[in-house]
Amino acid sequence: MSEQAPQFELLPSALKNWIDSQLQLALQIDPLEVRRLFHGRSGVLADFTPMVIDWLPNVAVIRLYADINTAQLREIVDFLAAKEVVQGVLIQERGRSRETTFEIAYGEVPPVLVVRESGLNFQIEPLQFQNFGLFLDMRNGRNWLKAHAAGANVLNLFSYTCAFSVAAVAGGAKLVVNVDLSKRALTIGRKNHQLNLQDKTASQFMPYDMLKSWSRIKKPGPYDVVVIDPPSFQPGSFIVEKDYAKVLRRLVQLTTPTAKVMVCHNDPTQSSDYVRALMAQECPEFEFQELLAVPEDFAEADLEKSIKVLIYQRKS
Ligand SMILES: C[S@@+](CC[C@H](N)C(=O)[O-])C[C@H]1O[C@@H](n2cnc3c(N)ncnc32)[C@H](O)[C@@H]1O
Repeated sequence: MSEQAPQFELLPSALKNWIDSQLQLALQIDPLEVRRLFHGRSGVLADFTPMVIDWLPNVAVIRLYADINTAQLREIVDFLAAKEVVQGVLIQERGRSRETTFEIAYGEVPPVLVVRESGLNFQIEPLQFQNFGLFLDMRNGRNWLKAHAAGANVLNLFSYTCAFSVAAVAGGAKLVVNVDLSKRALTIGRKNHQLNLQDKTASQFMPYDMLKSWSRIKKPGPYDVVVIDPPSFQPGSFIVEKDYAKVLRRLVQLTTPTAKVMVCHNDPTQSSDYVRALMAQECPEFEFQELLAVPEDFAEADLEKSIKVLIYQRKS
């Protein structure tokens, strides 16, 4: 009689339950709602800290910042693929020291998707951009802007695909000026406004290096709300330690006397105190109001490692 090989469950049920509950939540909000299904850095499962899983309806994207056990990875793919709602599973390997690669591990991954967040539509290109065109951890920032944009003249610095602009126009902004040196990102930005049937005259697009374009940026001002959401390290374009102060120094010239500013920082090695010290030094005319909460699907043991979004108000 042949002995049957023991069947080991490689994947902890905690991971499966977590993914299931987040997917259910997303589907309950909206069949097209984007959401992080698993955030490895939360530290809830020690073996999976280098992994995140995003839900871009109807594709699940597994991002690996370092290698994980191959058999476990296969099991995660199979687990996701077995769900009726999952049309494709994409594995993206990335990290500062390695090239980003994409592998379709199951089914179909369309080159372009239209997903939803808080009732707004966004174009996603899962196989193109490292971040597919939408930074999911900035959801609370976009919701804050939508709630504070009514009638405002808004400046969106480092606008990328203009997700902030879409939220601001949805919140009733009079005008949003989007500045980003990537023409391609701004083209998707235009598309994102169209996908939400927004008034064309409410948004402008400036494909410039902002560090060399202050007079052009100043012209449609002064601004009631300014969003500053830079990369932490983009050699040749922007490096926080060298360039953030140059942007903050411009705020007084760019704003109305009662303006609000959203100052963002995404480097996990620097805390919100870093931003507060920089603001106090370069821009004492503004006072700190609040640090926005991190979306619950991005919760981490050390919240200072997440995206930092600080709100400032100009002193009257
Ligand atoms: C972190 S992303 C911004 C995300 C964006 N705020 C959003 O809501 O999705 C950084 C963007 O900064 C742009 N960028 C970097 N250096 C720049 C510069 N000197 N002038 C203008 N844009 C710049 C990049 O092209 C990139 O699109």
